[in-house]
Amino acid sequence: MDTVLSGIRPTGNLHLGNYLGAVQNFVTMQYNEKCFFFIADYHSLTTHPNPKDLHKNVRQVLVEYLAAGLDPEVSTIYIQSDLPELCELYLLLNMSAYLGELERTSSFKEKARKHSENINAGLLTYPVLMAADILIHNADKVPVGKDQEQHLEMTRKFARRFNNIYGVEYFKEPVAYNFGKELIKIPGLDGSGKMGKSEGNGIFLIDDEATIRKKVMKAVTDSGPTEPDSEMPESIKNLFTIMEIVSSPDTVTYFKEKYTTCEIRYGDLKKQLAEDIIKVIKPVHERIKEIDSDDDYLKRVASQGAEKAHESGIKTINNVREIIGIKKFY
Ligand code: TRP
Repeated sequence: MDTVLSGIRPTGNLHLGNYLGAVQNFVTMQYNEKCFFFIADYHSLTTHPNPKDLHKNVRQVLVEYLAAGLDPEVSTIYIQSDLPELCELYLLLNMSAYLGELERTSSFKEKARKHSENINAGLLTYPVLMAADILIHNADKVPVGKDQEQHLEMTRKFARRFNNIYGVEYFKEPVAYNFGKELIKIPGLDGSGKMGKSEGNGIFLIDDEATIRKKVMKAVTDSGPTEPDSEMPESIKNLFTIMEIVSSPDTVTYFKEKYTTCEIRYGDLKKQLAEDIIKVIKPVHERIKEIDSDDDYLKRVASQGAEKAHESGIKTINNVREIIGIKKFY
């Protein structure tokens, strides 16, 4: 069994695409691997969120992931700032992370360009913190999107460098976790591209039924096919893509036929699609509300997660201290 670690940014709500894509894969994965899931609150501090928002966002992300099926009994689910050993490893790794390589990191360059008024050291050493996140549990695998691949590459470099400096084979070089089958990608409702958090084209797990219906009814379509077997525009293809995932095969066939014969009424298709999306979201939506109102449960989950993460972290940091030559006099 491999150790898999996943970092979750405490921003935004889960949408249907997240839920049916990455999150479902996490849920399945946790029964096959030793999983750590943490909410990366330190990482989000590079942009100076206000304290109330920060806490609210961390809580909301925790609630939604639990509702979606992360299981605190099988996985270690924790908040990054609940793991003190992480900060120590971050400090130690910083000693052999070089200015040049940090400045050359794409994410740093991009953020520095976009936010020239706030190029802080936390931003510069973001890859070191991320490496510490991963190496503190000596994870084998890390599920990451394209935008995080360079950070993972740097983690391997830092791990290798540490091993070389001290002549040990201590840290593993973590690799990207690839989900066996193609990751499900849910298109947005605006006729182009994926469903996203910020694009305004998404259906969220926190949306109630009326909101879902309204959003689906407003999805972009065209004026309809005018001749049999005409090429489907992107916006309609997208609705069918979602339908193929949430609806029954009969429903898909029914509407595809209507399309082919130019008898389709988009209003009918959308009504059906909305109901089928609601069926998928409703149980999670209700679970979100349940968990959200159960502070005791959240407290238990967070403290149990912190405890388990700490158990793993302290082991690593004790080994690292010894390797480096930090020894107690008492
Ligand atoms: N940088 C990641 C992101 O922006 C979040 C993250 C922080 C992370 N630490 C991590 C992901 C460690 C994987 C492993 O999405």
